[in-house]
Amino acid sequence: MSRIVVTGGAGFIGSNFVHHLVSQTDCHVVVLDKFTYAANAASLEGLPGARVTVVRGDICDFDTVEEVVAGADAVVHFAAESHNDNSLDDPSPFLQTNLVGTYILLEAVRRLRVRFHHVSTDEVYGDLPLDTLEKFTDSTPYNPSSPYSSTKAGSDMLVRAWVRSFGIEATLSNCSNNYGPFQHVEKFIPRQITNLIDGVKPKLYGAGHNVRDWIHAEDHSRAVLAILKRGIIGQTYLIGADGERDNLHVLTTLLEIFGRPADWFDHVSDRPGHDLRYAIDSTRLQQELGWKPIHGEFSEGLAATVSWYRENEDWWRPQKEATEARYRAQELNLGKVGR
Ligand code: NAD
Ligand code: DAU
Repeated sequence: MSRIVVTGGAGFIGSNFVHHLVSQTDCHVVVLDKFTYAANAASLEGLPGARVTVVRGDICDFDTVEEVVAGADAVVHFAAESHNDNSLDDPSPFLQTNLVGTYILLEAVRRLRVRFHHVSTDEVYGDLPLDTLEKFTDSTPYNPSSPYSSTKAGSDMLVRAWVRSFGIEATLSNCSNNYGPFQHVEKFIPRQITNLIDGVKPKLYGAGHNVRDWIHAEDHSRAVLAILKRGIIGQTYLIGADGERDNLHVLTTLLEIFGRPADWFDHVSDRPGHDLRYAIDSTRLQQELGWKPIHGEFSEGLAATVSWYRENEDWWRPQKEATEARYRAQELNLGKVGR
């Protein structure tokens, strides 16, 4: 493949994937990104200009998509509205980008006969009970909880329908919670790290017993490239690194790194519909495509992530105040509708 379009390539995982493509392949990368509040041009700094073209455009815009996809060998689709809390406050951009945007891309790759990889989430499967060893597999029934996860579930269904009815060459992947450098400060881990850097108490939803299955973004990128190269058309691959931790555990690890007492945080109102537990069975990806995570110990990855945020304040500082202002407004909105 010599020309790969990466939608959402200025976001957290998309930019990680762009760096990975540039270091691991010879292809030319075209980033198609709307540069919403979630994008950060600085995440693409240092890339060789001759290898990467950045197009500022909306995946919901038919003409832009047609122009960018023409001549590409593959489209890897990361672009999305990605934050659950925002989707509870205002679902409309989620329906537009995650559903309509995916539909427009699918029509373009159908007409232009371009290979497609759809990046999705484990949240399409809903949640698992806290006290079992059960994991999501690619045959777990879809049961999404939030506006975000339901639009991602809908986008997965569109991709599957376009494979079956129109014969497009597509693969899908559903990954668990990513962490690492360059993640927006709205998300749990960077929000608490940057609060701690500022001497502000972290904010924990509910009792903190909800479990997420953490994977380093670089391991996600490595899996997506393996699927793009060797995945079977029409197949869904689950991506996860056996990184189950409850939120309280993650938070107390951060507090320890910052030398704060284990109870130095605020309990804040819980997220409505908050999923209890995610856990991924990635056997197919490991056995059929030979992928394995290279970021082993979560606590080491977390400590390295803390160091990155300490050393890269220029990257996150401009987004911090607006993000916390958005959280304050969302608390008021949720209060207003009596949740
Ligand atoms: P992000 O919010 O950091 O980045 C999303 C990017 O998409 C931004 O650069 C944004 O500008 C761009 N974008 C949004 N709307 C667009 C539009 N209409 N047209 C073009 N670009 C648009 O998201 P992320 O956390 O990097 O997630 C990337 C993908 O991976 C998403 O599809 C998400 O569902 C999926 N995913 C994320 C995680 C996670 O833990 N973050 C886990 C599994 C799957
Ligand atoms: O599972 C994959 C999903 O992981 C992706 O599809 C989403 O795009 C990504 O945002 C992420 O969703 P979560 O909702 O799990 O991530 P978030 O970082 O928002 O929250 C992680 C957990 O931490 C969740 O249980 C809620 C909790 N939380 C979050 C915030 C922002 C807190 O306790 N306090 C907080 O301030």
